[in-house]
Amino acid sequence: MAKASTEQSGPRHVAIIMDGNGRWAQMRGRPRLFGHHAGAKRVREIVEACPDAGVKFLTIFAFSTENWKRTQSEVSGLMSLFQRYITGEAKALKENGIRVRFIGDRMRLATKLVDLMDDLELMTSDNDRVHLTVAINYGGRDEVARATKRLAQDVADGKLKPANVDEETLPKYLDTHVLPDPDLVIRTSGEARISNFLLWQSAYAEYDFLDTLWPDFSAEEFHKVVSRYGKRERRYGGVKA
Ligand code: FPP
Repeated sequence: MAKASTEQSGPRHVAIIMDGNGRWAQMRGRPRLFGHHAGAKRVREIVEACPDAGVKFLTIFAFSTENWKRTQSEVSGLMSLFQRYITGEAKALKENGIRVRFIGDRMRLATKLVDLMDDLELMTSDNDRVHLTVAINYGGRDEVARATKRLAQDVADGKLKPANVDEETLPKYLDTHVLPDPDLVIRTSGEARISNFLLWQSAYAEYDFLDTLWPDFSAEEFHKVVSRYGKRERRYGGVKA
């Protein structure tokens, strides 16, 4: 059964596909990584806008399982950007009450990056002002496949009976098992695709596709999108009460 994550009118959990960094840089005659750096700077502004917008959970798509197909220099540039971002932002995130989590498959990531991710998760684990989840090497299908593997192992170990597997069971094995489902998924840059993001979790989410390129996405626009959501009516497959 789908459940409303909150009784508040605004979205409690917003997920964002941050798209358009490359085009933003290209329009300025600069390399793509310039756009990614500008995009990373926006993240803090949006995280800081969450409490006022009534958003408790923010989940952002930083690197997909498909992004490895980009040039080696873009991939390594993004990986160093993540490392630098974590190192540079850790103190502020901790002090500002942001709890950070990472989702995605860590197996393919460099040990140095994974160590930084683990440290930041631990360092911010007592925070509760905003729950920021960063998806790195994340793909919705990959996440479901990894979850299924763990579930099958529990069946093989006799911890779970196949007859007891229902739609409440699988989410317990997903990377997002401690998070509520997203209420609103935003994608910037004019593409109306979900690109393998939070496939299971977004079954009842609202979508908002914006033309703005991610490095231009401001707190002001974030507030507008969030208040637009509050005016929509969600029925979770039912009828109006
Ligand atoms: C999509 O733009 C963006 C990415 C694949 C990377 C997202 C990364 C960031 C915004 C910065 C890092 C974030 C953190 C949390 C450190 P694109 O390259 O697909 O743009 P395009 O569609 O215009 O080519």
